[in-house]
Amino acid sequence: MKNFIAKLPKAELHLHIEGTFEPELMFAIAKRNNIEIPYKTIEEVKTAYQFSCLQDFLDIYYAGAGVLITELDFYDLTMAYFTKCKEDNILHAEIMFDPQTHTKRGVSFETVINGIHLAREEAESKWGITSELIMSYLRHLSEEDAFETLSQSLPFKHLIKAVGLDSSEKGNPPSKFYKVFKASAEAGYVLVAHAGEEGPAEYVWEAIDGLQVMRIDHGNNCLTDEILVQEVIKRDLALTVCPLSNLKLQVVKELDSHPLREMMKRGIKATVNSDDPAYFGGYLNQNFYALQEALDLSKEELVLLAKNSFQHSLLDEKRKKELL
Ligand code: ADE
Ligand code: ZN
Repeated sequence: MKNFIAKLPKAELHLHIEGTFEPELMFAIAKRNNIEIPYKTIEEVKTAYQFSCLQDFLDIYYAGAGVLITELDFYDLTMAYFTKCKEDNILHAEIMFDPQTHTKRGVSFETVINGIHLAREEAESKWGITSELIMSYLRHLSEEDAFETLSQSLPFKHLIKAVGLDSSEKGNPPSKFYKVFKASAEAGYVLVAHAGEEGPAEYVWEAIDGLQVMRIDHGNNCLTDEILVQEVIKRDLALTVCPLSNLKLQVVKELDSHPLREMMKRGIKATVNSDDPAYFGGYLNQNFYALQEALDLSKEELVLLAKNSFQHSLLDEKRKKELL
């Protein structure tokens, strides 16, 4: 099965580039930027990666991203992820980045996007791996702040396909961002959002009705509302599910109780993704391996999950046809 999964062509639709920051690269970049980090060894970093909820993780994740300063840092970070794509047979990646995490520290939007973009071009020319960028607003910050990020993005609009919504979900419902999502759509961006990871089904309703997203990141808790499940199916909205993330953030107790099987059984279009692989113990193939074992997924089910990832990507129909 592992061999079958490894060879399966895949797209990854839910990946935070800041969440691919491996401790080894973090140490190297911190050193060249003369920044102190609160860990002495890689082992120390890895033992710090024990989380009891989303917020626990986010505190460490934002601190880690704090060593990224130059265009080269963002290029190195993104190139390291594309190397993993090559290893995992990912043919297409939709990469989220959190501009506010960097602009708040005085790193310019331009520095972030130029570094990421350079790596995207190189991955495509070297390995044929295509990618899209999703600019994610941080939901623990204000809508006004998101509006400022939207205007900073406009000179680089040709490099960004979609906007998303991430960070601390509880207490920060999608309704906080209705206006900026409407303005983002008017500016030409496609819309996605994290919803129903830790937050209730109500937040998924707000994401689909209020924000009008075309895809839901996580969406686990939509299963608690049968009418919502029917609506998600009717509107053909895919969920970008992240098994190892759910396990590490204690969204699920064990992988064998992961809701993915139930989602598939009910006819929801699910995809498998790694979210923040450097923090959660594995890239895309590791997520597939762990899930296959825990839920005893068949080859047909694995193929369906991989097909869903292309079908519900932001690719145009012509490229989808080529890849499917
Ligand atoms: N930012 C990075 N990973 C995230 C996650 N799993 N949920 C919300 N925000 C995030
Ligand atoms: Zn995420």
